[in-house]
Amino acid sequence: MKRIAVITSGGDAPGMNAAIRAVVRTGLDKGWDIIGVRHGYVGLCSDNVIPLEARDVGGILQQGGTMLGSSRCPEFMTEEGRLKALRTLRQHSIDALVVIGGNGSQTGAHALSQMDFPVVGIASTIDNDLYGSEITIGVDTALNIALDAIDRLKVTASSHQRAFIVEVMGRDCGYLALMAGIAGGAEVIVIPEVETDPEAMAAELRAAYGRGKAHGIIVVAEGAEYNAEKLSHYFEKHRGRLGFELRATILGHVQRGGEPTAYDRLLGTRLGAAATDYLVKGEHGILLGLVKGAIGATPLAEAVSRKKKLDLRLLELARVLAK
Ligand code: F6P
Repeated sequence: MKRIAVITSGGDAPGMNAAIRAVVRTGLDKGWDIIGVRHGYVGLCSDNVIPLEARDVGGILQQGGTMLGSSRCPEFMTEEGRLKALRTLRQHSIDALVVIGGNGSQTGAHALSQMDFPVVGIASTIDNDLYGSEITIGVDTALNIALDAIDRLKVTASSHQRAFIVEVMGRDCGYLALMAGIAGGAEVIVIPEVETDPEAMAAELRAAYGRGKAHGIIVVAEGAEYNAEKLSHYFEKHRGRLGFELRATILGHVQRGGEPTAYDRLLGTRLGAAATDYLVKGEHGILLGLVKGAIGATPLAEAVSRKKKLDLRLLELARVLAK
């Protein structure tokens, strides 16, 4: 190995910068040149790359987002786009690529690896929906941001005896909603993995008020059939019968900003350093993530084709704890 490129792709996640910094500094330590790809796969398709030195990644550890920029790149999903990307890599004599990102980004990484280009993926997405890593970079920060919002909403909800819907991100995965709901002490949690009946939900809220609660917090995953908009609409339509004054807060991209927590900085750092270690061993075509609590590798083919399962027993635990 002589020249390694690093790219961040898809939705940015707090802790990506820690991973970039670790790839750059551990790579330089091994005597390699490190190249940064700007704006995700868009930069790879349009030859937008920069050399990275140790000082270029100074002061980024504590920053959310990604100093390289990111994108969603429809062009890279085409054969032509991938050939362009490969041309950029070859033109700059790059020997291997480290891809920091989630599902879509690792699918792209797998495609490049199938075109015989050495790639190592680093599991990074706030959604925590990537097979091959128990937790991904950005999840802890996003969860803490959601919790901060839930704690604040509980205060005003209690003052007014109101029910609040808090919608969190996660695409088709209910992980963020489930964990934020448990850690935030929600009365109801709505996730895509489980069918929701708004009538049963209303009954649960009524029961919670009946037990003397002053608030009703419903944490909803954006990908659930009844997201914040649909639930608000339903409750508004049946307000007379259901008897609730309901407010909705959609956290959206707020969850992706902010300073990475200590956990995300450490996870990003460990995974970034591991990427260069694996490349030294000549191992690629893999995704690096947290496996049984340690840094471990999963073949990219497996990571992008298997679905990560959510432990739905936690939903029952949340129900019991909401008493
Ligand atoms: O995958 C991360 C994520 O934040 C999802 O939770 C969300 O559905 C999506 O990205 C939003 O995508 P965009 O930033 O392109 O609007």
